[in-house]
Amino acid sequence: MTEQAIDTAERPGGLKRAVQGLLGTPLPRIEGPLKVTGAAHYAYEDAPAGTAYLAVVGAPVGAGEVTAIDVSAAEALPGVLAVIHDDPRIMAGEGNSNRLAEQGTRRIFYAGQPVAAVVAETQATAREAALLVRVEVEARDGRYDFAAEPVDDKPEIGFLPPISKGDLDAAMRDAPVTFDATYTTPAHFPAALEPHATTAWWEGDRLTVRSSNQVIGAAKGTIAKALGIADDQVRVLAPFVGGGFGGKTGVGPEVILAAIAAEKLGRPVKVALPRRDTAYLVHHRSETRQRIRMACDHDGHISAIAHEGVAYQNDDAAFLEPIPFGSIPLYSGDTRVFRTALARVDLPPTGAVRAPGEAIGTFAIECAMDELAEQLGLDPIELRRRNEPTYDPTSSKPFSTRRLLDCYAEGARHFGWPDRVPDPGTTLEGEWLIGIGMAAALRGNFTVTAAANVRLEPNGRVTVETDMTDIGTGTYTILAQTAGEVLGVEAARVDVRIGDTNYPKSAGSGGSFGAGSACAAVVLACEDVLAELALRMNAAPEELVLKDGCVAAGGREVPLADLARGEPIEGRGKSSPGQQAKRTSQASHGAHFCEVAVNAVTGEVRVRRMLGVFDVGRVLNAKTAANQIVGGMVWGVSYALGEAAVVDTRSGRFVNPDFGEYHVAVNADVPHIDVHFIEEIDDAANQVGAKGVGELGISGAGAAVINAIHNATGVRVRDVPATLDTLL
Ligand code: MOS
Repeated sequence: MTEQAIDTAERPGGLKRAVQGLLGTPLPRIEGPLKVTGAAHYAYEDAPAGTAYLAVVGAPVGAGEVTAIDVSAAEALPGVLAVIHDDPRIMAGEGNSNRLAEQGTRRIFYAGQPVAAVVAETQATAREAALLVRVEVEARDGRYDFAAEPVDDKPEIGFLPPISKGDLDAAMRDAPVTFDATYTTPAHFPAALEPHATTAWWEGDRLTVRSSNQVIGAAKGTIAKALGIADDQVRVLAPFVGGGFGGKTGVGPEVILAAIAAEKLGRPVKVALPRRDTAYLVHHRSETRQRIRMACDHDGHISAIAHEGVAYQNDDAAFLEPIPFGSIPLYSGDTRVFRTALARVDLPPTGAVRAPGEAIGTFAIECAMDELAEQLGLDPIELRRRNEPTYDPTSSKPFSTRRLLDCYAEGARHFGWPDRVPDPGTTLEGEWLIGIGMAAALRGNFTVTAAANVRLEPNGRVTVETDMTDIGTGTYTILAQTAGEVLGVEAARVDVRIGDTNYPKSAGSGGSFGAGSACAAVVLACEDVLAELALRMNAAPEELVLKDGCVAAGGREVPLADLARGEPIEGRGKSSPGQQAKRTSQASHGAHFCEVAVNAVTGEVRVRRMLGVFDVGRVLNAKTAANQIVGGMVWGVSYALGEAAVVDTRSGRFVNPDFGEYHVAVNADVPHIDVHFIEEIDDAANQVGAKGVGELGISGAGAAVINAIHNATGVRVRDVPATLDTLL
């Protein structure tokens, strides 16, 4: 076992002297052919013999109590096997957002909250019967209007403590230039294409759950706790996941219901949430209000910066959108205030949706910087340069690596930024107004404990096992590249086994920590294999040169298969955050550039081109990393121009809980997007030197679009989405 906390600036020897040249290359996804041929089976696609189907019955109102549930009509429907309504675990089934309620409560925290479940021979019957369950309630007036609810400035939930340094009021009073504006963002759905689906079955007292889930190691514990059984009675499988965006980081109530139903019936039970149920049973991103205040001198040197937000949550959940997260280390200034206040509502739970905090926090701060630059008569990049800190201005820690200035410079050069016409509304092509804008991107980098096994097989192939997931991100591929790089074999000779909690517990896919953490564990497991190879070569590990399936040392070159001598060589690795990780301030950075055309007659916005330049530490795979970033930038376009989950403030329901009316950007909305990386290996981040990628692309992207709209039209949009009516 090679176990290492990140306490050293030295990369492990195996990766440092690697010569295979595999890591970082744009290798196509190794599981791609399985996906495009339909051979990759997702959570809903296998039906074990005797499978029954489940549908969830939701609370008909958003606030009140359940007084009675009449299941007679549902039970009478032919094909219905059971209606579960009196199990105390239903009302408090573990949700995606750390539910707090005692099991067995009859309180309704939000419309659509699970109150019963129907199990039937077919999915259609289950869904029909769910409509026949009569739920009697004692309703009370709900708090459904975020804008109207009182604000708690000292919320007891959330993981981001408030920060307050210096005297903000004095700084705002005394500075020659001040800025004060409020921005709003609507609620967003983490709208993964693959439904939230689960198949659950029991063998004796052991439960197997095949579920579309991002973090199966944690899910196993959550499921065990919700059901009141031991962790080792639960196995979670998720070999393929069709997108998550944060919505699959937890365990939805339908997963617990499927397990309860499977136990009751003694049959496998399958559930897939219909799109409309997803809006209620899966957490969403809270609507936000964000006030940005800044004070500076006439040259734009910021002395005070405050980013204060308000987000909502219901009484049953413990997550609070960490709104100013990305602003904390972004710009210099001695006086610093960052906090999120809470408005309690009776709406479905809010939770971690791609880049919690940064995705919408960077919209506000980066639009504010654009506005301040205009107020000062400064180029927006120049204002940012003047406020680029040399160490973390909040924690005073050194940055591990930070190439933000280089991102600005390279992006500006490639995008043609110096040709920008600063005066808005002056560049015309017929009835189209043309403008360009930019914004910084920042997403904190996190290190989590991760373990992996690596085996050199007797035939010279390499097997990697870890309970990671691949949510479309490229995990299979980067794990193969990492093991292949250190052990000197091509990726085609590495078999990656993930998506099963029987493998060593890893990071899962969330918080952009999956790739770096899991690859770090693989590197350490390979080190373990290398130690044994060195013994068999009668050489020191650092003397070994591994390439193309052979190991060389002391003038001797031997095929790996020969060294395995008919027995696999097992390596185990575990990476964990250590002092070094805690001593530095770590983040991924970037700069977005965007050109828009706005129709002066109709207000229609067309995004014409986008470029992003990013500092993510080591790039593990140039193709999958760029794919991640492009996906995030598309979401930036999407929330700048269209995305908004609209709450009906009379009922606490969503007006548009489906893809028909919740507008996500489609191909016609998205131009060609260029992505560049500035690669600097970050040894403080983890043993592969890679920082987070997944959530960086969305951070700041929407602001670049909005800033380009201002440059085109002169209209300042502080409330996204920038729909046609806001521009005319
Ligand atoms: Mo992420 S919002 O932690 O999948």
